[in-house]
Amino acid sequence: YGDASQKIDYVFKVVLIGDSAVGKSQILSRFSRNEFSLDSKSTIGVEFQTRTLVIQHKSVKAQIWDTAGQERYRAVTSAYYRGALGAMLVYDITKRQTFDHIPRWLEELRAHADKNIVIILIGNKSDLEDQRAVPTEDAKEFAQTEELFFLETSALEATNVENAFLTVLTEIF
Ligand code: GTP
Ligand code: MG
Repeated sequence: YGDASQKIDYVFKVVLIGDSAVGKSQILSRFSRNEFSLDSKSTIGVEFQTRTLVIQHKSVKAQIWDTAGQERYRAVTSAYYRGALGAMLVYDITKRQTFDHIPRWLEELRAHADKNIVIILIGNKSDLEDQRAVPTEDAKEFAQTEELFFLETSALEATNVENAFLTVLTEIF
């Protein structure tokens, strides 16, 4: 899946963070393997997937790290963020609490990651419009204030997932 070039020009590490069950692992699975599962299990520790793509005629290997949203299953924070050039801060548009926790995730990110890290705020599960609890405008406003990119995605329907990764990878580039 993706462009399989032998020669890698760049390796970019991107981390996924956000509360448990917002869909971080399924966003990653959609991006790296074009797969989705409705009975996804909570992540324990750290997992990562890679996908190589071509950006501006260079082959870029995206190395995407994924950890648990639940505190007790989380990876060692400093190691997780080390060397990360991009971050995807994910909430669930149907769970207000997951959006209300975003400032905390941002705080942790800013405490541990490089200060030039490229950050995108992601409202996932946009397919569940009838259960929406976070207005798009609220998130847009927050993203603007904090100078983050912002997109709503659906890992289930494959909406904007590619776009979200490309936004981050192109900006790193
Ligand atoms: P932790 O590993 O515990 O931090 O959770 P996570 O953020 O990795 O969540 P995960 O990807 O495991 O997804 C949690 C649940 O939400 C699973 O049942 C997924 O199938 C579901 N899910 C993920 N993305 C979407 C989506 O875009 N739409 C819908 N409807 N469900 C989704
Ligand atoms: Mg997970």
